[in-house]
Amino acid sequence: MSNQPANFPGNRNQLKPIKVGVIGVGNMGQHHSRILSLLKDVEFVGVADVNVEKGLETASKYRVRFFENYLDLLPRVDAVCIAVPTRLHHRVGMDCLQAGVHTLIEKPIAASISEAESLVNAAADHDCILQVGHIERFNPAFQELSKVLKTEEILAIESHRMSPYSQRANDVSVVLDLMIHDIDLILELVAAPVVKLTASGSRAATDSGYLDYVTATLGFSNGVVANLTASKVTHRKIRRLAAHCKNSLTEADFLNNEILIHRQTTANYSTDYGQVLYRQDGLIEKVYTSNIEPLHAELEHFVHCVRGGNQPSVGGEQALKALRLASLIEQIALDGRVWQQSDWNYQYLNSPVITAS
Ligand SMILES: NC(=O)c1ccc[n+]([C@@H]2O[C@H](COP(=O)([O-])OP(=O)(O)OC[C@H]3O[C@@H](n4cnc5c(N)ncnc54)[C@H](O)[C@@H]3O)[C@@H](O)[C@H]2O)c1
Repeated sequence: MSNQPANFPGNRNQLKPIKVGVIGVGNMGQHHSRILSLLKDVEFVGVADVNVEKGLETASKYRVRFFENYLDLLPRVDAVCIAVPTRLHHRVGMDCLQAGVHTLIEKPIAASISEAESLVNAAADHDCILQVGHIERFNPAFQELSKVLKTEEILAIESHRMSPYSQRANDVSVVLDLMIHDIDLILELVAAPVVKLTASGSRAATDSGYLDYVTATLGFSNGVVANLTASKVTHRKIRRLAAHCKNSLTEADFLNNEILIHRQTTANYSTDYGQVLYRQDGLIEKVYTSNIEPLHAELEHFVHCVRGGNQPSVGGEQALKALRLASLIEQIALDGRVWQQSDWNYQYLNSPVITAS
């Protein structure tokens, strides 16, 4: 941000801690609270939740104030982390931004493209930082992977993000809950427009409003192809991305924080006492990755952006880009069409992302 506005705490006093609150202390909000209570240069002010019991319990654990109505928290903070259900991101996010409060919203940025656009506009209008919780960007394995791939020619990418069935995040499809992480990572790695897309999906129960398993193939303008699969009905948790490059295969395992680079050095036939043998030599490099918790890195980045008035690495625009593509994948998986770049007025680009009740 070039002209730092007055509501950046870094402008007022470099030494003042940034006052932060958490709105929604369910699954994710608990982790935000834990990490904010540990961060240097942060004053963790309070939590807000409509669930009074959960809110009071979290507030007492971290010795902060509890607010049943998040609007009462806003005058007391410089910044908030919003971890309410996705369908509420827009309403809560707009209230925060319009109050001039820097905002980190959990992913996906919002439940529809028009809601996401209005959040992005509100952040600009009110000179606020808007960061979105695309946490995998801060995963040390992804950070190392993107360094490795800077010197490689990527041909194709495959991602797998599978989870066993759970009651959580059932207000969105698997594309918005899980695949959106890989959509964001792949858009960042390939850095070219998507020109072709196919997708298919299935449900665990015929009466389920949302798809539970989706696979999508993206064609990029630079020739890279990406295959993404996400599932919330697989009996094993998997978080993997593989980049097939001209001179290597690089595999990242985000669960185990591991990166392996495979290179085939030689492949030849030889004879051994008249017998023809096939011999293939390969090299596997294991890349060192730090063990910093991704959410810790994400929140440190947010606080750093708030203090310095810098644009976050995953701001509203990037999150909106990921949401547009997620929305298209979801709609194509539902109706089985093939989308090409020439479909300029493709109706689904503007359709709501959350449709089922
Ligand atoms: N980054 C990630 O990897 C990741 C992982 C899980 C969830 N998420 C996202 O985090 C968000 C929250 O998911 P969750 O699993 O923590 O949900 P959750 O249901 O466990 O928690 C949501 C909390 O928000 C509270 N809430 C609801 N309405 C509210 C309101 N008006 N004001 C204040 N609080 C309110 C609820 O009482 C609940 O405590 C979702 O958008 C989800 O997509 C992100």
